[in-house]
Amino acid sequence: MLAGVKNVIAVASGKGGVGKSTVAANLAVALAQTGAKVGLLDTDIYGPSVPTMFGVTERPNITTQKKLVPIEKHGVHLVSMGFLVDTDQAMIWRGPMVTSAVKQFMQEVEWGELDYMILDLPPGTGDIQLTIVQTVPLTGAVIVSTPQTVALDDARKGVAMFNKVNVPVLGIIENMAYFVPDDTPEKKYYIFGKHGARKLAQKLEVPFLGEIPLREIVRKTSDSGTPIVAADPASPSSIGLKEIANRIQQSLAIRNRELDQTEKVEIKIRP
Ligand SMILES: Nc1ncnc2c1ncn2[C@@H]1O[C@H](COP(=O)(O)OP(=O)(O)OP(=O)(O)O)[C@@H](O)[C@H]1O
Ligand SMILES: [Mg+2]
Repeated sequence: MLAGVKNVIAVASGKGGVGKSTVAANLAVALAQTGAKVGLLDTDIYGPSVPTMFGVTERPNITTQKKLVPIEKHGVHLVSMGFLVDTDQAMIWRGPMVTSAVKQFMQEVEWGELDYMILDLPPGTGDIQLTIVQTVPLTGAVIVSTPQTVALDDARKGVAMFNKVNVPVLGIIENMAYFVPDDTPEKKYYIFGKHGARKLAQKLEVPFLGEIPLREIVRKTSDSGTPIVAADPASPSSIGLKEIANRIQQSLAIRNRELDQTEKVEIKIRP
């Protein structure tokens, strides 16, 4: 499975709406900008974000071998359930249908050679997420959290889930770390609290990968189909995201030196 893919990285959180998809989209673009071959698989079947965030309205092509060809946008090879079915229909799918769809995305997509495949996971740490992380040979996982307690509690569960399935956590990203208004960009408002995710990373002894401010431009560019890193690569938000992508590359290099490739994930449930 995924023979041509060197690194598979899951972007997860516990809580919904903390910016997983935004981070996954921008990381994918940032990695592609370094010259790497990058794929992004949107595994959020109930609420796919990739079609909107990358402005995809077309349907993917199918090869003569009946394999799906990813759609390329901003240098990233994309696959999302949102390309194939009406999201309203997917709403009534049961868990096993979701996981078999994700399996098909691994096996029946012409991914080709990739340096990085980014998986945008659905929110939570339930059955669906657990099955996905066991289906895919993950190299590592990145956890996104906002700084407030309710999000951090869930981020901790995310880290625990990956520990359980022996997938290395490459680090934690603090999104919406503080709000920066466009009219006074020198100001920082810590509306969700200060350094919450940074402190959690220290406590759990996992790398802290960096913080992303809450800015209107980040939301606007995502909604309009061009992630900020592609829309305005020189903006402070893009530079921050590119630094995070660099740290992930470093974290991966260390992980790949020290550990074997994750081929089959073994479950070790801790009491
Ligand atoms: N740093 C940021 N600055 C401004 N807006 C942001 C930022 N991060 C995310 N957003 C916006 O917040 C909303 C939620 O983000 P996103 O969809 O990435 O979260 P998610 O964790 O993937 O959500 P879900 O749990 O539903 O999958 C989106 O409208 C997005 O544009
Ligand atoms: Mg999402």
